Amino acid sequence: MKKNLLLSSLFQLLLIIGFAQTKVDSLLTENRKNPVGLDVAQPRFSWQLINSGRDIKQTAYEINVLDGKNKVWQSGRVMSDSSVHVAYKGRALQSGSKYTWQVRVWDNTGKPSAWSAPAFFYTALFNTSGWKAKWIGPGYIEDSVMRPSPLFRKEFKLSKKIQSAVAYITAHGMYEAAINGQRVGDAYLTPGWTVYNKRLQYQMYDVTNMLKNGNNAVGVTLGNGWYRGIIGFANNINYFGKDIALLMQFDITYTDGSKESIITDDTWKSTDKGPVRYAEIYNGETYDARKEVKGWNEAGFNDKGWSGVKLTDASFDVLTATYNEPVKQHEIIKPVKIITTPKGEKVIDFGQNLVGWVVMKAKGNSGDTVTLSHAEVLDKEGNVYLDNLRAAKAQDKYVLTGEEHSYHPHFTWQGFRYCRVEGLQGELNPEDFEAVVLYSDMEPTGTFSTNNPLINQLQHNIQWGQRGNFLDVPTDCPQRDERLGWTGDAQAFSRTASFNFNVNDFFSKWLKDLEADQIDGKVPFVIPNVLGAGAANSCGWADVATIVPWDMYLAYGDTRLLAQQYGSMKAYVESIRKVAKDDLWNTGFHFGDWLFYRPFDDNDGSAAVTDKYLIAQCFYAHSTQLLINTAQVLGNTQDVNEYTALLQRIKDAFNKEYVTANGRLVSGTQTAYVLALNFDMLPEAQRKQAAERLAENVKRYNNHLTTGFLGTPYLCHVLTRFGYDSVAYKLLLQKNYPSWLYPVTMGATTIWERWDGQKPDSTFQTPGMNSFNHYAYGAIGDWMYRKMAGLDTYEDGAGYKHIKIMPHIGGGFTQAKASLKTYYGTASSGWVVNGNTITIDVAIPPNTTATIYIPAKDASAVTESGKALQGNATMEDGYVVVNVGSGTYQFTSANALVKN
Ligand code: BGC
Repeated sequence: MKKNLLLSSLFQLLLIIGFAQTKVDSLLTENRKNPVGLDVAQPRFSWQLINSGRDIKQTAYEINVLDGKNKVWQSGRVMSDSSVHVAYKGRALQSGSKYTWQVRVWDNTGKPSAWSAPAFFYTALFNTSGWKAKWIGPGYIEDSVMRPSPLFRKEFKLSKKIQSAVAYITAHGMYEAAINGQRVGDAYLTPGWTVYNKRLQYQMYDVTNMLKNGNNAVGVTLGNGWYRGIIGFANNINYFGKDIALLMQFDITYTDGSKESIITDDTWKSTDKGPVRYAEIYNGETYDARKEVKGWNEAGFNDKGWSGVKLTDASFDVLTATYNEPVKQHEIIKPVKIITTPKGEKVIDFGQNLVGWVVMKAKGNSGDTVTLSHAEVLDKEGNVYLDNLRAAKAQDKYVLTGEEHSYHPHFTWQGFRYCRVEGLQGELNPEDFEAVVLYSDMEPTGTFSTNNPLINQLQHNIQWGQRGNFLDVPTDCPQRDERLGWTGDAQAFSRTASFNFNVNDFFSKWLKDLEADQIDGKVPFVIPNVLGAGAANSCGWADVATIVPWDMYLAYGDTRLLAQQYGSMKAYVESIRKVAKDDLWNTGFHFGDWLFYRPFDDNDGSAAVTDKYLIAQCFYAHSTQLLINTAQVLGNTQDVNEYTALLQRIKDAFNKEYVTANGRLVSGTQTAYVLALNFDMLPEAQRKQAAERLAENVKRYNNHLTTGFLGTPYLCHVLTRFGYDSVAYKLLLQKNYPSWLYPVTMGATTIWERWDGQKPDSTFQTPGMNSFNHYAYGAIGDWMYRKMAGLDTYEDGAGYKHIKIMPHIGGGFTQAKASLKTYYGTASSGWVVNGNTITIDVAIPPNTTATIYIPAKDASAVTESGKALQGNATMEDGYVVVNVGSGTYQFTSANALVKN
């Protein structure tokens, strides 16, 4: 008996020791797992310490990087607590090579971890001299109306044993490539969208296992894509150029060490006789399956009837490796219902407004055409509603062969919940249809939930809005003839976005395009800019240039991104300074507080119109402040001083022009007060009364918001900051228009563009602008994560190195919980209210610290995991404040004053 006891305690001890050993895991290179194709000279490494114990910190690390067998970097033991964004410092990396790396760490118990499992990355081409391939275009005269997708092919023989092979591919247009009949990679809509005339991304693939000894063939289909397809609401074509073209290079290394390249050149063949007869992003695709060319991308195919190709002199200087995650297929959604509408049409309901395409299995008479029309909503009568798509046809057409076949488009996508099916004989079988959801392959990182199902649905809608509109660039909407990288929408939502998914590289890439598109520092309305040079510098839109880099810094601690964007940020602020008179930005076109509350027959001035130049001045200050913050992080003292002086002048000018002696703003709207308070425009002494006016304003509208795109993201933040949590909760829980929950009560599954996209009587807002998938108002998500659940980062430990947990309990909620996969590991904060007892569960990842605020009367009322609080606790504004290291904690606050 005794022996058993002894053994089991020994076992337990071993378990504890075992758990206490820190492991290293989740290795990232440039924020991605095993990326293929980096043209970054000094990639940065991140890793996580795995240890569920408390107060675990890294004290040192050691990294080895190998190019196969040789070590190209041995860091040795580096005394440092950095485990995120540690830059490579070894021998110069070579183009087109595979590297593996491993790391081990020492923690504060002094013990080294085991070496991590190896991670890898491939370098892409560091110089244009690496390109041997030539740009090729179709060798026939194109049908200039339908512009069917060209097919390109090339057959080649490899006579030696292959050790490794990589492919580099890009296009003017979109491409889909296959080697020996097999699709290359799982990315879609490649090469994605950039400012093509300045930056064109190519993709790199490891194709070692796709090539074989002997005869091989490669086949590539091109679509018009963003490059030369219809883009912009003026329905222009050929925005970036009129020629469709392909560039592809295989670099093969044989086992004997020799190398060979297979390239696009004038020996390739092309034809316009393939199945994709028409493909436009807005309008959809026409696919004639009768025209599928059997075996065209395999060896041995007879291409005698094909044309040659034309060499084109497109630029190599603009080529750059792909920095962001490509678009991939994600959720597969089955029909929830098949409907016959009052008009007698057959419609599939997928139950979720989504972005992607429908895959259809169909059989019918050869030559029959099946037309799939996509719609986001049904109208009052229950018929599909297409008017809000404007000129976008959003239709995929399939011409059948007589055999059963599976269809999906290639160079388009649609935003839809409903799909109308025409031209298919017989009843629709739900088994034959599924919706494939497409978006940039960002890692999901955040969860948020409460005890209120409507709020949970709101969170669901916010996340689906992000899925639908983070498609290589952050788009305003995914369905109508727009789908553009609207800057105002992106800045409003970027912080929320950084909770739901990892958007570090997504935005890093887009910000490079932003910089590429700036003219004299001015930032266009949309990036990539397809609206013309004059469409720039609208306040709150253009400020994306400073807001998103700073948001990314807060979320990911990415200082290199700040350094990368600094020139762009500064040029933007300078572009305002240039036009400002006496430090007032009061010229130029501005969208203003877009889509603010504007009731009809407004006799009482209840339309919430905010002076556009008042808004401009607030954003001028905000961008200047963010520039100062950035200069501080980068150690640029001269700029800190210069812009701090400028900022004071901007604020003085604001107060002189827009604030009365008694502290009243010339526009009495929620947005005016929100911006003035959020950006610290008012002197300290006037802030309290301004916040009171804001709270009163909300009350005057019977607890409704009246804000548009610019006021909404900060509304609840300002209320919380000035002690009006209860007002913030009233707005959050408001169910009728205008409010966040109104669309939820109307059955929305995504965030709407307008507060009242669909009216209570089921009629619609004006079809000219009524998207049902527009993420901007989803910016409330940031408040839900950071204030309601209370999960935030300190600026002095950006990227959650120093975590702030400060829940704001109220609104009658009994539970809220958020979790976030940070680069250090998962952090979470969740609270439960039971009578007067509050329980807060917190997880803090290794190698970080946290300051935790527990609502309580005093420290003696708080226990942690059932024990009295250890260490020094202080009291602040009704919170007991403790500092902790990593680990999981449960705080209980007894006899707490729970606010509603
Ligand atoms: C877009 C927006 C955009 C706005 C500019 C609209 O057409 O959909 O979301 O920000 O134009 O005001």
